[in-house]
Parts: sequence; structure tokens; C-alpha cells
Amino acid sequence: MLIIALVGLAGLVSLPWWLPARVVALRVRVFERINGDEGIPVPGDLVGVEQFEEVYAHPAAGGRSRGAALSDLFWYWLSPGPEMHQEHLEAGDTYDAVARTTRRLLAVRRTEAEELARRCAGRALRDVRGLVRLRDLMIPMWAEFSYELVFGEPCPREARDLIAANAEDVAGALQCTRLRHMGRRDRLTAYLMRNLHRVRVPLPEGLTPRQQAYYLHGAFCTTAVVQLSEAMAHLLLVLARHPEVQERARTGDDAYLDQVMAETLRLYPLFGIAHRVTTGDIALDGRATIPAGSVLCFNYPAFHHAGCPDPDRFDPDRFAGPGAKRLNHIPFGVAANRPCPAWRLAPIVMRVVTREVLGRYVLDSSVSHTRAMPHRGPCLLTPRGAPHRPGLALAYLRARDRWEDVWRSLAQLVLGTYMVWDARRLRLCERHFSSSETFGPEPEGSHARHRTGHRP
Ligand code: HEM
Repeated sequence: MLIIALVGLAGLVSLPWWLPARVVALRVRVFERINGDEGIPVPGDLVGVEQFEEVYAHPAAGGRSRGAALSDLFWYWLSPGPEMHQEHLEAGDTYDAVARTTRRLLAVRRTEAEELARRCAGRALRDVRGLVRLRDLMIPMWAEFSYELVFGEPCPREARDLIAANAEDVAGALQCTRLRHMGRRDRLTAYLMRNLHRVRVPLPEGLTPRQQAYYLHGAFCTTAVVQLSEAMAHLLLVLARHPEVQERARTGDDAYLDQVMAETLRLYPLFGIAHRVTTGDIALDGRATIPAGSVLCFNYPAFHHAGCPDPDRFDPDRFAGPGAKRLNHIPFGVAANRPCPAWRLAPIVMRVVTREVLGRYVLDSSVSHTRAMPHRGPCLLTPRGAPHRPGLALAYLRARDRWEDVWRSLAQLVLGTYMVWDARRLRLCERHFSSSETFGPEPEGSHARHRTGHRP
């Protein structure tokens, strides 16, 4: 009896060391089971690392959503109005009009962007100290930043809270740590619809007001806020975990900070997989052909790791000198195939915010660091000049992180399985294209139908 109790106790105490990894592996298997294996992994057996960028940049690797079961999942996570999200639109007039508007909204002068980022950081960091979760700290800041990009005026509290609630909801659902709450997201769409007339550039013509609101919602209130918050949380977490890099980044020039940013996005690219549906055949050196209609799954982490010496080690110095050119590094996508429209702006404003944080605080953290970062970046912020004795806090963070990992991995398994199943059930993308083939472009209100699960 005593032995059974001791074995049980040992199993319980050792949970954090073995359970999370097994649950993650199980989740991957469940996802594959439900989603099927329609995709061609790149790099993989058919397309090697050396052809990764060539195939990504191929004119026939152009289909964005239609024809891939995987799209149903991304449309589910990036609802409402996923059919109007720039990332999901197929090539054509609507895509061109939307992409043009995004370029105009992002084309702010460098000094203005820096000033705006500085102001937003100043407000968000006021009165902050002690233990924080970096992503939670970043989301309201980038919500205000994004709002001002779109509306050209300071962000009211109501809008900041709506945008932040939406971004937290999307980020949490993407990481399977919570289910999506459409109510939170719908309230933001309604706010945007009431304020379309105040947007500082003309919105794409030929769209209904709801479609225009969905476009702004997707690109500027979801993608911009989630991506900048995730990227900054990764950057600040690596600095917190590497004190010597933190000190060099704080006292050094922008060139070194850029190396740290590049290395952070190499190790923790924001995209795990970006997929494309081929619109024609792609011949591979006469060896084989990728047929039209194939789903190509471009694996960013695998590409960034390939050919990199000691790829799991965090080392910003690999981006110093001529060797950097040989590294596989595409944090903002590939230029020839719909790269990130914020590839110029994002590093500029991230640099400013990093300097604002490092100027105010010493950062410390002892938590694990993975690409998905479901723990949202626990970190200790000690104001500069205050006594710096992080030992106890670091021990606490390490222990809490280990135990949180146990319940979080189980929650991710359950919630993730449910959402993958629900996305397959709703088939938002597949139904959008089949209904537009039958009835013409889908008008307003399609989202309401999707939510109730009604099938046409
Ligand atoms: C550090 C921050 C960011 C990173 C690392 C990043 C990364 C990326 C990547 C890799 C892609 C291409 C994915 C593919 O090939 O399918 C992409 C696309 C996109 N990003 Fe970003 N992004 C960031 C910030 C932003 C911001 C601030 C915005 C603001 C609007 C934005 C809007 C978009 C849009 C709309 C697309 C789709 C482009 C298209 O299909 O035309 N991103 N991003």
C-alpha cells in the first residue's frame, strides 16, 4: 500500500517533467488526424531546403485559401469576416484594393512612427513594475499604436479596450489556451462600422461598410496587434533570459539591437507554417512536378534551422558580418509572394519600444521559451535604480512555469481538439467559395450564418 502511494506521489511530483511534452505530441497527432495530411511539407522529401525560396516565390504558388482544408482552420481563428482578411484574399481586384489601402496606412514617415511608438510605450509602461506577462503588457500598447495609424488621432479608452480584448482572444485561441469568444470580436466590428467615416485614408471602393470594417478588423486590429505583441514579447523574453545580451543591447548601437531582433525572429518566427495552393504545375528541375491544386506548407522554423550551425542556440552575433547572408532567414515572408506589408515599419517601432523598456527596467526571467509562448512571457521588471535582487522571484517563476505547463498542456489538448473539430464542421472557407460560385460574391451577414453553424 505504502509503495503504491509512494509511486503515485512520485508520478504526481514528476508530472511537469514528462507530461507536457507527451500531451503536445498527442495534440499534434490529433490535429493531423482531424485535418488530414493534404499538404506537401516544404522543406520535405519533394522540395528540399535549397529550393524552398524558389518554390515559395514561384508564380504558380499563388492561391491563398481556396481548395485547402487547412484554410478552414485559419478562417475560424481569424474570424469574423475572414473572407475579407488581406491574408486570405485570392489575387484579384479586391485584393489589390485592400493591399493598396494597407500600404497607404502603413506609409508613415519614420520619425512620426518612432514618435508614435514612443508615446504609446510611455503610456503603457506608466506605473508598471514587478512580475508581468510580456504579451499582456504589449497588447494594449500596440492596440493604441494601430488605432492611431488607422484614425490619425489618439486612441480613446473604449477603442483600446475593444482592440485589446479582440487581440487577446485571437492570440489565446491560436495558442489553444482558450476558446474563441465571438462576442468580444463582434463588438469591435460594430465599433469600426460606426467609425468608418473617420479613417484617415479612403477605404477600398466596391466593398460594403461591413466588408470595410472586416478588412480593418483583420489587418489592423488583429494581425498588426497580435504580431507586434508576440514579436515584442519574444524579444523582451530573450533579453530577460540573457542578461549579457540585454546589457549590450541597452548600451550598444542600433546595429546590435537589429542583430538581436533578427536572431529572435530566426529562433521564434511568428509563422509556424504559411500555406499556398498551387494555381498551375511547378516543375522541379525535371525531377518531379508539383501538380496544380496542391497545398504547399512552408515551414518557417524548419527553414530557419536548416544549414545554421548549432541552430537552437541564441546567438545574435551570427547576424554580424558577411556570414549572415548565408543564413536562411525570412521573418517577414518572401518578397515575391505576398510578404508582410509591415516589413519596413515593424523593426523601426520595435526598436523604439525596446529602448523605452530597457531604459526603464532591468528584465529577468527564468521561464521556458518556445515559439508558441502559451505562457505569455512571464518576466520580472525592476525599475532602473531600484535594488535588483531577482533570485527569489526567478525561483518562483521557474516553479510556477513548470506547474502551469501541466494544466496548460491538458487545456490546449482539449480546447485545441475542439476548435479543430469545430472549424472542420463549420468549413468557413470551403462554404464561402462554394456559395460564391453558386450565388456570386457572398454579401454581408455571412458571418452570422457561420456562427450559428447553418449550412446553406
Ligand atoms: C514583427 C512583426 C511581424 C511579423 C514578423 C510579420 C510576419 C509576416 C509574414 C511572415 C507574413 C507572410 C506570410 C505568408 O507568406 O503567408 C505576413 C503577412 C502579412 N502581415 Fe505581417 N508580420 C508582422 C507585423 C505585421 C503588422 C504590424 C501588420 C499590419 C498591418 C501586418 C500585416 C500583414 C498582412 C496584411 C499580411 C498579409 C499580406 C498579403 O497577403 O498581402 N503584419 N506577416
